[in-house]
Amino acid sequence: MIKVGIVGGTGYTGVELLRLLAQHPQAEVAIITSRSEAGLPVADMYPNLRGHYDGLAFSVPDSKALGACDVVFFATPHGVAHALAGELLAAGTKVIDLSADFRLQDAEEWGKWYGQPHGAPELLADAVYGLPEVNRDKIRQARLIAVPGCYPTATQLGFLPLLEAGLADETRLIADCKSGVSGAGRGAAVGSLFCEAGESMKAYAVKGHRHLPEISQGLRLAAGKDIGLTFVPHLTPMIRGIHATLYATVADRSVDLQALFEKRYANEPFVDVMPAGSHPETRSVRGANVCRIAVHRPQGGDLVVVLSVIDNLVKGASGQAVQNLNILFGLDERMGLGHAGLLP
Ligand SMILES: NC(=O)c1ccc[n+]([C@@H]2O[C@H](COP(=O)([O-])OP(=O)(O)OC[C@H]3O[C@@H](n4cnc5c(N)ncnc54)[C@H](OP(=O)(O)O)[C@@H]3O)[C@@H](O)[C@H]2O)c1
Repeated sequence: MIKVGIVGGTGYTGVELLRLLAQHPQAEVAIITSRSEAGLPVADMYPNLRGHYDGLAFSVPDSKALGACDVVFFATPHGVAHALAGELLAAGTKVIDLSADFRLQDAEEWGKWYGQPHGAPELLADAVYGLPEVNRDKIRQARLIAVPGCYPTATQLGFLPLLEAGLADETRLIADCKSGVSGAGRGAAVGSLFCEAGESMKAYAVKGHRHLPEISQGLRLAAGKDIGLTFVPHLTPMIRGIHATLYATVADRSVDLQALFEKRYANEPFVDVMPAGSHPETRSVRGANVCRIAVHRPQGGDLVVVLSVIDNLVKGASGQAVQNLNILFGLDERMGLGHAGLLP
């Protein structure tokens, strides 16, 4: 059994890790932390977990106890993994970080977007960006994984086939993305209140969102050159889900884009390229570790539209984190991740 610690167990990605790991035959959660709920049994806070974690209670983070685990997930705000990861890695514990702490390769760029200096630039050389569809071989050898963000997962998986094949005008990419409210976490905030977010939809951070440099970094690597991206996130009145509508100019109209996408993801267990003409729905991936994609060329023109949907808490966070765990420990990548989407 793999001994697992989770830092940040009361947040939405933390409880989603618990839900997924409850079905994992090779992982055992030994520690789950919360400073505010220390001492409270897990199932008292999350009754959906009753019967799965008897005897497990939240505890205050203790790096010595965490360092006795085989792997520690960080489901915490940015900055927390910076402070603790070095000590855990030195103890031989692998780290899977769901926050943005190690996603950007450039520490200065990170500081610019997160408004504070990077807390562990010396660890960046060890960090592997945990998008299995791109970095599977590197993940196998890693000890520190930076799990991609939710918008970055949906957006990169949608654009990758076009950019890797050198087909799209990489200077004018557009990602028009919608997120459910759980993307903002469980912390109390006026914008996440039912009466503020319900029955309404709005764009935000059009000037520049923190996920922009992360998406740009991934797309730049895929294209092998600088790219230009306009990324506009929106908040929508649903609990879970990301819907990315992606636009790219593909001048060569003779390319069979459906075949291109099907071939790129033919061996990917968690990317589903839908039949030509499809419109994937976020509800089809609710609770599932799946990115569902459809590619369109409206009116046969040169502007290609890719539709890409994920559950922000699963393929966009905790499911992808468990996928990384499986790869890191040499297990079947699909272990514990067989859930179909919750529909209706
Ligand atoms: N929500 C999503 O859809 C999503 C998707 C992808 C990635 N992420 C990323 O995943 C991370 C967690 O997101 P979330 O939505 O689950 O957040 P959240 O709901 O706000 O939960 C944060 C958790 O971290 C703990 N925490 C906060 N400050 C801490 C500190 N200084 N030391 C130790 N623990 C601390 C909190 O518990 P206590 O304060 O009680 O200790 C809580 O359990 C974030 O970095 C987020 O950007 C989120």
